[in-house]
Amino acid sequence: MRPGRFIVIDGAEGVGKSTQAAHLAKHLAHGNRATLVVREPGGTPVGEAIRALLLDPTSSISTRAEALLFLASRAELVDEVILPALKRGETVIADRFFLSTYAYQICARNLPEDAVRTANSFATAGLAPDLTILLQLPVARGLARAAERGEHDRLESAGDAFHEAVERAFTLFKEPAWQAAHPECGPVIAIDADGDEYRVFARIVEALNTRWPEPEVNSGS
Ligand code: TMP
Repeated sequence: MRPGRFIVIDGAEGVGKSTQAAHLAKHLAHGNRATLVVREPGGTPVGEAIRALLLDPTSSISTRAEALLFLASRAELVDEVILPALKRGETVIADRFFLSTYAYQICARNLPEDAVRTANSFATAGLAPDLTILLQLPVARGLARAAERGEHDRLESAGDAFHEAVERAFTLFKEPAWQAAHPECGPVIAIDADGDEYRVFARIVEALNTRWPEPEVNSGS
């Protein structure tokens, strides 16, 4: 049992996850809910070192090693940051979690689903999100937005076919049947990420208010 709430914001490249995570943290803070934002890979000293390795365009990493590095970063983040915060009753907002591994390593890299799910369950100690907000944007638009931020990292440079497979995977995760078969991912709500960041955030608040009709989420900007 844990008193805090665990919310994940996930989606493909350039959909605005970090921007929306920051808006949500500010919004929940208005409601006096202690809130922490973390990102994956990263969020701890070990995780940030792993992130640098994983995203470095000059790194050459096998697909299994890549998956295990993402999971090692996740294990450290869960043990050192997420679980302690949830036990203190805080809301944790994670910029990516297992849905990303599912999309990138299982669906796009074609790693075996059972093995990666088992390894993820070890990495998370069974922690599942209370809710995932899945931001959706056509893949070309997201990659163009990501490109505006500067150089392509190792994953962003993986090619069109790879990113189209990632997009197909994220589309699949919206299906209730898929969610029922993957309880470790928790419930997923898809949000249209097209348009101005404040309009997208208004859609997120509406979805949260529907899910949790309580003062913390209803108040604030
Ligand atoms: P970003 O969060 O800054 O977009 O960068 C993280 C990159 O790592 C992004 O390309 C997605 C990728 N990724 C995976 O391939 N598997 C994972 O499990 C996670 C968390 C991220």
